[in-house]
Amino acid sequence: MERSKVVISKEQIALQYEYMGKVRALLGQEERYALVRTYGCQQNEADSERLAGMLHEMGYSITEDEKKADLILVNTCAVREHAELKALSITGQFKHLKEKKKSLLIGICGCMVSQEHRKEDIKHKYPYVDFLFGTAMLYRMPEILYTRLVKQKRQFFLDDNSGNIAEGLPVYRMNEFKAWVSIMYGCNNFCSYCVVPYVRGRERSRDPEEILQEVKALAEQGYKEITLLGQNVNSYGKDLEEPMTFAQLLERICQVEGEFTVRFMTSHPKDATRELIDVMAQNPKIARAFHLPLQSGSNRVLQRMNRKYTTERYLELVDYMREKMPDIALTTDIIVAFPGESEEDFEGTLEMLRRVEYDNIYSFIYSKRKGTPAADYPDQIDPSVASDRFARMIACQQEISARKNKDYTGEVLQVLVEGYSKTDKTKLTGRTEKNRLVHFEGPEELIGQHAAVLIKRSETYALFGELAQL
Ligand code: 5AD
Ligand code: SF4
Repeated sequence: MERSKVVISKEQIALQYEYMGKVRALLGQEERYALVRTYGCQQNEADSERLAGMLHEMGYSITEDEKKADLILVNTCAVREHAELKALSITGQFKHLKEKKKSLLIGICGCMVSQEHRKEDIKHKYPYVDFLFGTAMLYRMPEILYTRLVKQKRQFFLDDNSGNIAEGLPVYRMNEFKAWVSIMYGCNNFCSYCVVPYVRGRERSRDPEEILQEVKALAEQGYKEITLLGQNVNSYGKDLEEPMTFAQLLERICQVEGEFTVRFMTSHPKDATRELIDVMAQNPKIARAFHLPLQSGSNRVLQRMNRKYTTERYLELVDYMREKMPDIALTTDIIVAFPGESEEDFEGTLEMLRRVEYDNIYSFIYSKRKGTPAADYPDQIDPSVASDRFARMIACQQEISARKNKDYTGEVLQVLVEGYSKTDKTKLTGRTEKNRLVHFEGPEELIGQHAAVLIKRSETYALFGELAQL
């Protein structure tokens, strides 16, 4: 794709600012509230912060309270059926809110509705949805909302999904010390189970100067953690007029002044390079944590998944990482019961978990996605076999995670404090550089700050401690 066609023009962005002004004028002085409900990955959360930014610019106050809301926007995910059903169910519930408050506006956007069949579903079965737009139309939300308001007609917009880059939109950040920065959008890999390339378009990288400016501004505002986002960050820069690698971008980001930690996700094993690992090893600003989706521990399955690497190549990368950074925390994604997965293939995945000893895994039962090649594979796995394997895999990893967590007892860890624990309001909770969850008692002022915590005991997924006396 030609770069000039990918990057949305300054004039078009200015036009959207005009629409934001027009909506603001239309709504008048009265206080209005907007709620953005997000499903799915961090990229979706980052998109929601831009949607909230535009709504804020239009005069809406951002709220979490659906009863207060005058506008509700549901940002959906399509990666598994479960995520789709959740978004549809919540949209269904908002119907009752609209019955009570006729003026309530309901919009739906994101990956799920970027599929034609879902758009049609919403159009016909959810008549109370006022507007819908796909991922490629995010930047035009002000225009779509304005048109809905003045024409009093439902608006449905799916553009072709080769995708684009829209710079200069306002961002409403939901967290005051942790920020997302998208560095690229889309995916070219077409793993045979995955819907992402169809709903988020082709890979396209943001201009490095735009990214650096955003990072500089965040560092100046005192953000403690910056997570670089992309479906496949290791492909960063290939499509730029002056190509650069992800490792080179990371190096430049690390040169930005300020005390912040850099994280990134997601990496594809076929594109992760030694150059990247070397840059990580040399830069203390980069968290010693690597998320490297394996998906399966069987080369036969990997090939059917169109992943383009073998377990041997994957292990080479892991070994190199550990050679350069012995304490690195590794996490992964696994799909269980991909079509045709035999007991032996599955054993191969368990074997990889034992060999790599991940700190944590994110595992999913394969979900059939309409339009993807794997959906037509004839050898779909019986759901009872799938759930049995899933349980065995969780048990295998639990043992590893529990053992790894136990090793931290007696150590003092630096924790970025995120807030009060959801399960125990007397405790603060936060994460270490290696993404370990830590609960401890401490004063509220520590929220958003780093704290040194002495670990006293561990469970499978969390550590418990007390403030260290330094
Ligand atoms: N079924 C189950 N899991 C999936 N993922 C992507 N597509 C599917 C699917 N069809 C998982 C992969 C990916 C993560 C984000 O979601 O493990 O890495
Ligand atoms: Fe989906 Fe594969 Fe692209 Fe990840 S790399 S978004 S799993 S197609």
